[in-house]
Order: sequence, then structure tokens, then C-alpha cells
Amino acid sequence: MIRFENVTKRYPSQSHPALEEIDLNIERGEFVFLVGASGSGKSTLVRLAIREEVVTSGRLLVGGHELRKMPQRKVPQLRRQVGTVFQDFRLLPNKTVKQNVAYALQVIGRPRRAIRALVPETLEMVGLADMGERMPHELSGGEQQRVAIARAVVNKPPVLLADEPTGNLDPATSLEIVKLLRRIHDSGTTIVMATHDNVIVDQMQQRVVELEDGHIVRDEIGGSYVPKVVDARDREEREAERLEEDADRPAPPEDPPLGEVHALDDWDDDAEDLLR
Ligand SMILES: Nc1ncnc2c1ncn2[C@@H]1O[C@H](COP(=O)(O)OP(=O)(O)OP(=O)(O)O)[C@@H](O)[C@H]1O
Ligand SMILES: [Mg+2]
Repeated sequence: MIRFENVTKRYPSQSHPALEEIDLNIERGEFVFLVGASGSGKSTLVRLAIREEVVTSGRLLVGGHELRKMPQRKVPQLRRQVGTVFQDFRLLPNKTVKQNVAYALQVIGRPRRAIRALVPETLEMVGLADMGERMPHELSGGEQQRVAIARAVVNKPPVLLADEPTGNLDPATSLEIVKLLRRIHDSGTTIVMATHDNVIVDQMQQRVVELEDGHIVRDEIGGSYVPKVVDARDREEREAERLEEDADRPAPPEDPPLGEVHALDDWDDDAEDLLR
């Protein structure tokens, strides 16, 4: 469903790539934790998958579509299929809870009747059935994140990407949020969650992909936050090798201008089944 093939991402101002030669395949129905130190590339990986950023080299396919070749006008269709949740909730401050969730459907032109049915149903699913008329500032952090999750899934996207969704929450609230994500996963949604939360990762026992300095250094089914056997010497050797490689590296190539890539015309305009 999401496939990185030899993907490198270099931000224009950076000498060191944020991600380098990443190979990663996430299948439909998986729950994947992305872990790694600050700056290791987790958010970059998420941003690439919704085409907020474009790969520098390699191929990134989402639902069979290569994102670098996707024309800009198709990007909204991609984002309809890939829900996102962030650490800072990103709710519309001047809209009620209901309006925040409804807005996600209005912008994609869903009819009013569908919106009237889907919004209460989704608020109930996230445990906020009675809070539809509140404003975001009248909610706790955990409640705000539930609204953000409701908004991300109200259109029933096949994939949900969550970038540190519990980063601003206390441990008990974080656990509640993750239980909610697990329920969404149980209903068939593929979930990728970047996190620093070791308690959650250890408890959930899901696939763990660990990034270090833009490289995948671990990909483990049923993993924990810290690898069971840490081979520090191994890591030091890898780091030394990378530094040597960096010294020999030629100047980084410029990001290709988007205008030059070829349009992909086989996007299914009836996007409902795109990623199935
Ligand atoms: N917009 C940007 N422009 C330039 N460099 C960037 C940009 N965004 C990220 N970087 C760099 O890319 C690298 C990876 O950053 P990224 O945000 O993906 O890390 P992260 O694993 O999400 O970290 P954190 O755990 O702190 O959120 C870092 O070196 C960072 O400084
Ligand atoms: Mg990040």
C-alpha cells in the first residue's frame, strides 16, 4: 500500500540527507510504529507519503501511484485516501467540534445528507458524542486529539498516518488515544504512527521500524521501543562507515523541478477504491 524504493530525501539547505536509500513496504492492514531519535527522519517519511515533500531520488508508491510523477491537481485525491493526525491537533479554532469534522467532508463535496449521518457516527466512535457543540479551546488535549482523529477518519480513508499523536498528552491520555487508533486499525485501516512513546510501543507489540540518521536500522514484527539486544559496537561501525561515505560524496543534486515530471493519467477519478 505504501512502498518506498531506494528513496532519498535531501532538503535543499541540508548537506546531509534527511532520509537515505530507504526501502520500506507497508502492506494493507498493518500497524507500524516509526521510532528513532529526534531528527532521524520520521516526520520526513510521513510528509513524503502525503506529498507535502517530494522525494529527491528513488520511487515512492502509495496505492500503486508514484508520488513524484503525480500532477499537483491529483494531490488532493491522494490526501483523501491518507488521513493524517499531528502532535499539535491542528483544529480550526473558530469552528465547533462538529463543524471541524464536517469541514473535512464539505471540502471534498460530500452531500449534506451524508455529512449529517457521518459526523455524529464518527464523534460517537471517538467517544465525543456529547461534545459536538463545543469549541476546541473548551476541550482537553486528549479530547482535541480525538476530534483530530475523527476528522482524519470521517471519510474512511484506507490509511492513517499519525505523527507523534500523543506527543503533547500525559501517559494515561496517550494510552486512550492509542486504544482508539487500535480500534480504527481493527476496522481495517492501515496505520503508521511516528512516536517517542516507549510505553505504548512496548505494550502494543506491533511492527517497529527504527530510523537512525535517515536510515532504517531495524524493522521488527512484534517489536519493542528499544531493540531486545542492542549491539552498540555494530551501530558505531555503521556510523563510521556512513561518515566515510559522506566524505567521498559528490555535491548533492538539485531537487528536480516538478514541472518537468510527466503527468500520470491513470488516476481513478472515482477515488473511493483507489487503495483497495
Ligand atoms: N523543512 C526542512 N528543511 C530543512 N531540513 C529539514 C526540514 N525538515 C526536516 N529537516 C531535517 O531533516 C532531518 C529529519 O527531520 P525530521 O523532522 O524528519 O525528524 P524526526 O525524526 O521527525 O524528528 P522529531 O522526533 O524531532 O520529530 C533533520 O536533520 C531535520 O533538521
Ligand atoms: Mg518529527
